[in-house]
Amino acid sequence: MNADDREAALALLRWYVEMGADEAIAFEAADRLAPPPASIRLPAPIGGQSPRPVPAAAPPALTEPLGEAAQSARRLASGADSVEALAALVAGFEGCPLKRTATNTVFIDGNPAAPVMIVGEAPGADEDRIGRPFVGRAGQLLDRMLAAIGLDRSGVLITNVIYWRPPGNRTPTAAEIASCLPFVFRLIALVRPKVLVLSGGTAAGALLAQSQGITRLRGRWFELAVPGLDQPVPTLPMFHPSFLLRTPERKREAWRDLLSLRARLDELLAVAPPSG
Ligand code: URA
Repeated sequence: MNADDREAALALLRWYVEMGADEAIAFEAADRLAPPPASIRLPAPIGGQSPRPVPAAAPPALTEPLGEAAQSARRLASGADSVEALAALVAGFEGCPLKRTATNTVFIDGNPAAPVMIVGEAPGADEDRIGRPFVGRAGQLLDRMLAAIGLDRSGVLITNVIYWRPPGNRTPTAAEIASCLPFVFRLIALVRPKVLVLSGGTAAGALLAQSQGITRLRGRWFELAVPGLDQPVPTLPMFHPSFLLRTPERKREAWRDLLSLRARLDELLAVAPPSG
């Protein structure tokens, strides 16, 4: 292979990765080259106006259609009266363009009745393949962190601010986050967690009206106002497990935050023990 061929092959591979085709092996072959449907209809909003067609063929000009997508998400999410109903709405939502390159919708894992809810960033390759959040290396570290304070997936509900894998694991854009955020807030309102953990800077930046980065935010408790809840939710930003895998020397701070989470949870459970 000469230098030009090599450059062309690398450019093609880069293009595949950008388009989300970066998995060499899967249980079922995904036809990434299949033409998109002529148009995609949003699910009918509950109690709202008629569905609006969204052009699917070309990548949308970023701001406008995604602004509409966020509005559509808000209308849909506000009509969900259970986690199951919300899951069905998310699965049918076509307003986030990441869905077109993802293999699976990744919504929640764990226990919707649990006192702790954890919000991460977005699915990676393993989550996209399996359809559940935090099942790869970062998820395994998250499980070990939870185990260290006596929790497992039956004691937490895990989700992300984005439900579809960004190609090549890039950070989701503000517009992509905006199109999913109404579902995230509705999930919090339906689950009513005693405490919320924001795992990493993307989740913290999306849910808290704070301009500081995660290094400044982590370990501090916030009171998050959530539409539909009459009480704010105690909320703790922490380092993301992927960051801790790359930067193990920051685990000391993560450990302090875990102890703070355990203490706050014990306090809240002592005031109102779980029913049943
Ligand atoms: N990182 C996240 O933020 N979420 C996942 O589900 C997996 C990795």
